[in-house]
Amino acid sequence: MELISNSNSNNQQLLSRIATNGGHGEDSPYFDGWKAYDNDPFNYTENPKGVIQMGLAENQLSFDLIEDWMKTHPRASICTTEGVTEFKDIALFQDYHGLPAFRNAVAKFMGKTRGGKVVFDPDHIVMSGGATGAAETITFCLADPGEAFLVPTPYYPAFDRDLKWRTGIQLLPVVCESSNNFNITITALEAAYENARKANIRVKGLLLNNPSNPLGTVVDRETLRNIVTFINKNNIHLICDEIYAATVFSQPNFVSIAEIIEEENVICNRDLIHILYSLSKDMGFPGFRVGIIYSYNKNVVNCARKMSSFGLVSTQTQHLIASMLSDDEFIDSFISESSRRLAKRHKILTNGLSQLGIGSLKSNAGLFFWMDLRRLLKEPTYEAEMTLWRMIIKDVKLNVSPGSSFHCTEPGWFRVCFANMNDETMEVALRRIKVFMKKQMMRRSNLRLSFSSRRFEECAMTPRMMGSPHSPLVMTPHSPLVHAS
Ligand SMILES: Cc1ncc(COP(=O)(O)O)c(C=O)c1O
Repeated sequence: MELISNSNSNNQQLLSRIATNGGHGEDSPYFDGWKAYDNDPFNYTENPKGVIQMGLAENQLSFDLIEDWMKTHPRASICTTEGVTEFKDIALFQDYHGLPAFRNAVAKFMGKTRGGKVVFDPDHIVMSGGATGAAETITFCLADPGEAFLVPTPYYPAFDRDLKWRTGIQLLPVVCESSNNFNITITALEAAYENARKANIRVKGLLLNNPSNPLGTVVDRETLRNIVTFINKNNIHLICDEIYAATVFSQPNFVSIAEIIEEENVICNRDLIHILYSLSKDMGFPGFRVGIIYSYNKNVVNCARKMSSFGLVSTQTQHLIASMLSDDEFIDSFISESSRRLAKRHKILTNGLSQLGIGSLKSNAGLFFWMDLRRLLKEPTYEAEMTLWRMIIKDVKLNVSPGSSFHCTEPGWFRVCFANMNDETMEVALRRIKVFMKKQMMRRSNLRLSFSSRRFEECAMTPRMMGSPHSPLVMTPHSPLVHAS
């Protein structure tokens, strides 16, 4: 112990501030849950009592389609007998503009994933190591240390790492609430902007994630127009992380910011608009680290391209992706089959939970939904949320992610990922939740029973007190006695 703390303080002196400031966020509950899973991972046959990972936004539902394509297109890889003739050229290529075929194919794919309503110019495409790298690169291009971006809450926890950690910028919350389904209002945007102004913090942009992680919802056209007006009025950037564009599986359709700025009556300085994208979610390739910055601002494209030297996508991957994404027939059927499977999985899980009395925010996109366990909290606090979260990991053996790690301002919401497991695992997860809910109900009715007998005794002793609406013993829907767990 002594040794560790000595070496910690030694490191503080020996290493940089970035190396020692903890800005990576590895110790947050969001990542802690993953550690619980890593220590005891569920396996249907080998570890059936292990932790089921429902905290990882991976899209594994359509991998069979990709594998079939790979088998029938051996030339797409430079590591097959059929493809090896291109090995040398691809291995030698190192231009940070990227392979032209790759940029063309990605631009076309981005159009398809936005319903074919917009056309993307391959010359505006800059590659990076996943959307993670894209977010940091755009931040380096747009803001200096101490400056800030506004971000609607709840938001993807790793934005803190990706945008803040090494750049030294700040993220300021735009508070969105369940009372209006977490929609982004102009009032909330103005309030966040005003707070920054009062604190003397220069706001350089707004970071919008549409479709939203963790909510699984899409931002409607009217809100997008209002946001464009807001950023233009204040002359700040709009960074749209559209990494979940093709995960939308039912109405309302996804509307990209690219579509809004093309609208006739929308007035917008396009130099302020930047889109982040990646193949990690829509295609389910987080391991390939294919991230994209699409900026309408030529200077940003130039600068980001130079910076991309620090996080290029390997040419081997570019080559494979160029080939796959240019296969129109395959991509069209992949996108529609993938969203059909996501819809089915989402429905089974949310319906299953709703039969157990567990609600969730109505959603139609993403690889997760936003589960409402507020009524299981002993009290509406983050401490109670963490207690419940620990219980879910320890007793139910499910890793879901607590809302507090998404900067949600209302305790009791949890993100549940549903596309990173097979059907059998999902059924085990549902069965475990069922048992958990039954126990909760039994506890509650036991509490009610003991409460009624106590009430009887207390009534007998202090009858007037029990009649008072201010009595601490009057049961309300939010009473800790009713919701004790
Ligand atoms: C909203 C959002 N942006 C960015 C990322 C990072 O994606 P990538 O794997 O492409 O770096 C994620 C991953 O979960 C995400 O949910």
